[in-house]
Amino acid sequence: MTPDWRRVGALADFADGEVGGARVALDDGRELKLAIARRGDAVYAFFDQCPHRGAPFSELGLLDDEGNLLCGWHYWAFRLSDGAHTVLPNLVVPCYPARVQGDAVLVDITGARRPAVAGIEDPKEEDA
Ligand code: FES
Repeated sequence: MTPDWRRVGALADFADGEVGGARVALDDGRELKLAIARRGDAVYAFFDQCPHRGAPFSELGLLDDEGNLLCGWHYWAFRLSDGAHTVLPNLVVPCYPARVQGDAVLVDITGARRPAVAGIEDPKEEDA
């Protein structure tokens, strides 16, 4: 699939060491909700819903000292590198390629990794 890089904001819009949010208008009129984590000049994009009980990472997400995305409700931890749960790696938060270009944060919305656990829907099909 051809990458579809979208600008989700300026790097300065996302505080270093924190998790923010971004919304991307899809071509079919729906909206993709993303959580954007920033560590220095590196950015990471995730579907904005915890696979445990659905908490929005953009509001409750935290970064720990080990480079994981934490959900602020029950503190499940997911690797920034690939969205995998740190203890149960088959449980995955869909994540998207993200990069900084100039002062812009770009996300390839075609790059979502499909969740590996039954019962969690594809965010582009069900939860966008
Ligand atoms: S809702 Fe995220 S850990 Fe429970």
